[in-house]
Amino acid sequence: MTKDDTPESHGFSIALGGRRHGRPSPSLDNPVFQIADLDVWYGDHQAVRDVTLTVGSRQITSMIGPSGCGKSTVIRCLNRMNDLIPGARVTGKVAYYGESLYDAEVDPIEVRRRIGMVFQKPNPFPKSVYDNVAYGPRVNGVKGNLDDLVEEALTGAALWDEVKDKLKASALALSGGQQQRLCIARAIAVKPEVILMDEPCSALDPIATAKIEDLMAELASQFTIVIVTHNMQQAARISDYTAFFTADVDEEGVRHGRLAEYDTTVTIFENPADQRTEDYITGRFG
Ligand SMILES: Nc1ncnc2c1ncn2[C@@H]1O[C@H](COP(=O)(O)OP(=O)(O)OP(=O)(O)O)[C@@H](O)[C@H]1O
Ligand SMILES: [Mg+2]
Repeated sequence: MTKDDTPESHGFSIALGGRRHGRPSPSLDNPVFQIADLDVWYGDHQAVRDVTLTVGSRQITSMIGPSGCGKSTVIRCLNRMNDLIPGARVTGKVAYYGESLYDAEVDPIEVRRRIGMVFQKPNPFPKSVYDNVAYGPRVNGVKGNLDDLVEEALTGAALWDEVKDKLKASALALSGGQQQRLCIARAIAVKPEVILMDEPCSALDPIATAKIEDLMAELASQFTIVIVTHNMQQAARISDYTAFFTADVDEEGVRHGRLAEYDTTVTIFENPADQRTEDYITGRFG
């Protein structure tokens, strides 16, 4: 048994790296995002303080931690989704392949094409299955055979077999798990470089969750994935690196999200450096 297969961690069973699908060892040698001294404010409330971390290419990076500690806030910084929230302000550095995402000349629409996002609640457009997937390529003026592209994206999202006979049916008639995979197909149809996922499985049953986890492992051979999850086993199973966030309370009693520890998933789950990480992953806190 290799270390990756070790079933026991902190007294409860986690298949560490159980869905790695033979991918290479975790590495930050090719950074995609370099985040440094990141602060995020909503109005005059500082939601996130002083986050520094690097996301590696073709890695699955998970963000875990208790509710309200700023995971969604941080992941939204990676494709400038916070721009769309009135009063949100981001300071510090978020570099994407070495270039600041927040420079004035950077086009946020182009950023969101290259860095796609899948949300907690599946949000298909009230259109057909086909039109959901074709939407992005059409908007981007993609030339070539749209039918092939739609099939490729649906196959990539492990949904093709289930929907190939109902491409013209409304996406809203699909089950929740199918809708979530449709949203993943829609995200990959524009051929992004990165996919951000904020709790993509929280509303899904274990079968749909397993499908999406398998899918992520597959996609990681082509894409860089960052996922927020409350499911410890999921983080342990699928991710290469894990960022554990927590919230500090300052002198005035205000909570600020912070990155407590960031390391390989194996280290975070087997040998964390910070007591708060250990308490959280063993269920003593949060
Ligand atoms: N749109 C917003 N406007 C104002 N404050 C916000 C907004 N979104 C988040 N916040 C605040 O920022 C802090 C961090 O919230 P965030 O949603 O990032 O936490 P989270 O770690 O994703 O939590 P959860 O696990 O519950 O999803 C919280 O105090 C929250 O109230
Ligand atoms: Mg959240």
